[in-house]
Amino acid sequence: MCGIIAYIGEKNSVQILMEGLKRLEYRGYDSCGLAVMAEGAPYCVKTTGRIINLEKKLANVNISSRMGIAHTRWATHGKPSEENAHPHFNKDHTIFVIHNGIIENYAILKRELMKLGHPFSSETDTEVIAHLIEEFYDGELLPAVLKCLDKITGTFGLAVFHAEEPDQIVLARRGSPLVIGLGRNEMLAASDVNAILRHTDKVIYLDDDEVAVIRRDGFQIMSLTQETVYRTPEKVEWQIADTEKDGYPHYMLKEIFEQPETVLNAFRGRIIPEEGVSKLGGLEPVIDQLKHMKRLIVVACGTSYHAGLLGQYMFEKMTDVDVDVEIASEFRYRNVHPHDGTVVLAISQSGETADSIAALREARRKGALTLGMVNTVGSTIARETVAGIYNHAGPEIGVASTKIFTSQVVILALFALLLGRYQKLSMTDGAGIIRAIQQLPEQISHILDRADHIRAIAQKYYKYNSFLFIGRMCNYPTALEGALKLKEISYIHAEGYPAGELKHGPIALLSPHCPVVAVCPQDSMYEKTISNIKEVEARSANIIAVCTEGDDKLTEITRDIIEVPATVEFLNPVLCNVPLQLLAYYCALYRGCEIDKPRNLAKSVTVE
Ligand code: AGP
Ligand code: GLU
Repeated sequence: MCGIIAYIGEKNSVQILMEGLKRLEYRGYDSCGLAVMAEGAPYCVKTTGRIINLEKKLANVNISSRMGIAHTRWATHGKPSEENAHPHFNKDHTIFVIHNGIIENYAILKRELMKLGHPFSSETDTEVIAHLIEEFYDGELLPAVLKCLDKITGTFGLAVFHAEEPDQIVLARRGSPLVIGLGRNEMLAASDVNAILRHTDKVIYLDDDEVAVIRRDGFQIMSLTQETVYRTPEKVEWQIADTEKDGYPHYMLKEIFEQPETVLNAFRGRIIPEEGVSKLGGLEPVIDQLKHMKRLIVVACGTSYHAGLLGQYMFEKMTDVDVDVEIASEFRYRNVHPHDGTVVLAISQSGETADSIAALREARRKGALTLGMVNTVGSTIARETVAGIYNHAGPEIGVASTKIFTSQVVILALFALLLGRYQKLSMTDGAGIIRAIQQLPEQISHILDRADHIRAIAQKYYKYNSFLFIGRMCNYPTALEGALKLKEISYIHAEGYPAGELKHGPIALLSPHCPVVAVCPQDSMYEKTISNIKEVEARSANIIAVCTEGDDKLTEITRDIIEVPATVEFLNPVLCNVPLQLLAYYCALYRGCEIDKPRNLAKSVTVE
């Protein structure tokens, strides 16, 4: 969702900014633009739609520039139009601003600024920033930006330059990520580290309410009250190659096929098979508080929430902990009272989801110990939690989350195992779980080897406009996640339901026009789920069944069978989810959808 890239150095800034924008494309946007200092005068260009449109506009422009800022916008205030695209500027076209986030008091500020004679050229909230800085400008950009920030409320990731001070770019952050990239004789800044990885792997993440100035040969970070902040640069462990498609037609497919490795990375170095236990280094600082914890609240959104739901079954099975799993956008406004010793775990691929961050802050305010499970090192959730666990799954670029889901589930299993061994789980049972986890990468490879079979099923069904996904117990979240994947990328209406709940309403939808995907591996709920599938069969709906290899009951009911290897009950969702990812992918492919950039969606939802 929305992206910022800024550059100051010795190279051609237009090229670097354009390349950076392309690396931000996956996050979802509706318009884009750039402003650079070109031989003493600023140059600004904007467009609706894709970055390629910006490239076309720049094709015959010959600019020599060593600094500038660029943006992909995900409209919150004002339609996606050229005028509303960023950068925004003041009336003299000297101050240029790009902004991620929302200025909540923009309407009142806009009225005041208009009275003072500032002409507005867009409907955005962002534009007030440019005029407000102009209002405060007295020959120096930084003090004017600080005064402006004092006036505005809301969230921002901000990059600003002034044409008369072309040796610096001012950055500011509140609630919307920004990272500074330290190069040799050049500095970059971006809302997402992927945008700058080609140039440097030395970075500094800004915290909320910090302002920074970057120059070609240095940088300075301070608080809003101008106290200097000293922070050591970090090294990014991702490589630029990790962010490329590697011969796959889509990032989503590449990421689906990476799962044998990402699942392995989730447990590599984190298991002690002979003791039947896991070790999670990131939780060691708080292990004494965790050992005997009684209540865990998981907060998350979307796919990460579905992983959290699976955690509930695992913790129930292995520990004495009561687990509640909450949608972060709801939890943040509820009045939950964490009892003594309640632990709140935020699960998030990006670590930047605004609702999950807010839920976490609410929990912290009420005294809960906060933990994070994130994939993005250095992200807000990683920094704001007391302890946590990284996925180490490499960047996930496809908007539809795939490899992170399976990684999250495996890590939740390790977490439950860790606590379970302090509570009610025997060493033998723990060792059995570890053996099952160790088999997962090979079992996933085995499923992926049969992707063509799933493709054939997708070819048969992609024209249907409505699907139901059903499963019981831990395959209920599998059904939810399968339905989410299908609707996100193929725009087919799909709903996930607990199979036993069908008869309480959704059964009314069943007809030959509404296929049902039944997740029915051989677990403790197998017979019950078969009965539910029979109810579906009786209503003449087509059935696609995901089942354990060698199942003979389901082959009698449907020809559209997807087999997965056998594993322990609560790891079935890992294996059953993989074919559902492929089913969604191939349906979207046959429908001609933009798989990596589905309409209206953003990879990381940094606004409420
Ligand atoms: C997943 O396919 C979605 N795009 C979305 O539901 C996502 O999982 C959700 O926005 C949470 O993101 P996070 O894990 O980065 O917090
Ligand atoms: N609120 C701003 C706008 O609508 C910024 C949106 C964004 O974060 O891209 O222009």
